[in-house]
Amino acid sequence: MKKILVTGSVGQIGSELTMLLRKLYGNDNVVAGGNRTKPTGKLLESGPFEIVDCTDAQKVADVVKKYEIDTIYHLAAILSAVAEAKPNLAWNVNINGLYNVLEVSREYKCAVFTPSSIGAFGPSTPPDDTPQDTIQRPNTMYGVTKVAGELLCDYYFKRFNVDTRGVRYPGIISNETLPGGGTTDYAVDIYYEAIKKKQYTCFLEAGTFLDMMYMPDALKAAVDLMEADPAKLIHRNAFNISTMSFDPEMLGASIRKHIPEFKLDYDVDPIRQAIAASWPNNMDDSAATEEWAWNYDFDLAKMTADMLTVLTKKLK
Ligand code: SER
Repeated sequence: MKKILVTGSVGQIGSELTMLLRKLYGNDNVVAGGNRTKPTGKLLESGPFEIVDCTDAQKVADVVKKYEIDTIYHLAAILSAVAEAKPNLAWNVNINGLYNVLEVSREYKCAVFTPSSIGAFGPSTPPDDTPQDTIQRPNTMYGVTKVAGELLCDYYFKRFNVDTRGVRYPGIISNETLPGGGTTDYAVDIYYEAIKKKQYTCFLEAGTFLDMMYMPDALKAAVDLMEADPAKLIHRNAFNISTMSFDPEMLGASIRKHIPEFKLDYDVDPIRQAIAASWPNNMDDSAATEEWAWNYDFDLAKMTADMLTVLTKKLK
């Protein structure tokens, strides 16, 4: 049986991934690691929690030893908009934090899942059907840390045989925990506002296409890749994965099918618009399909129907 540590377990992906892993591998076998925010509710009650500041290598090592951890899902990270505002913090968490997790994993022989992102690409990357292996010259601090992280994970596999694996996540849409300061956050906020006010003011321009994904598919990707036969993995880290690409207008139109009076207007934030403009429109995920049978369940219409159903109940 696996013994798992999830860093960033209180975050947007971590809060849901921890619960899924507990269901799959047993509540006591999945340690929720968090730093600034303590978990609440079912996340706190269903299994162990430990304070794990990934920038403190000793703390990571202590928890790995205490619970005899063999697999780390390293989700603690600073997202793109916060990283532009606080580049020093982003470097410390996204680079030094990952380095510490990899070093501890080398010493204690843990497998490591690390998410990279569409943010690992930049303005000179082909924006459509972005290939798995292509130009990566991001012009954001977030992107710099993500490319370096991809390389670091490859290095730890080749040099030290650490079982590193990872995907490039698109923007993730979910209804459990809000994302914390990303460029793709509009695609989450819009659903909350559509239910509460039937109106949303978007901080990205109409026509800004980005890869997006519904949380159940993002969770499935992490679990499936970590369970995949290693003999078939050519890339191991930073697999492009993709389910849908849309701009704010398309998202607004899909919401209007359920809430016809929904109004969408714009007040563009130049910083997040510039970040979004430097990212791909849609990635080619054929390497993930070929190497570990990546597949998904949700397109835009199915996601919108589910988001509105779940959030309508939640916001009552
Ligand atoms: N959702 C992330 C962000 O916007 C991208 O990986 O920062």
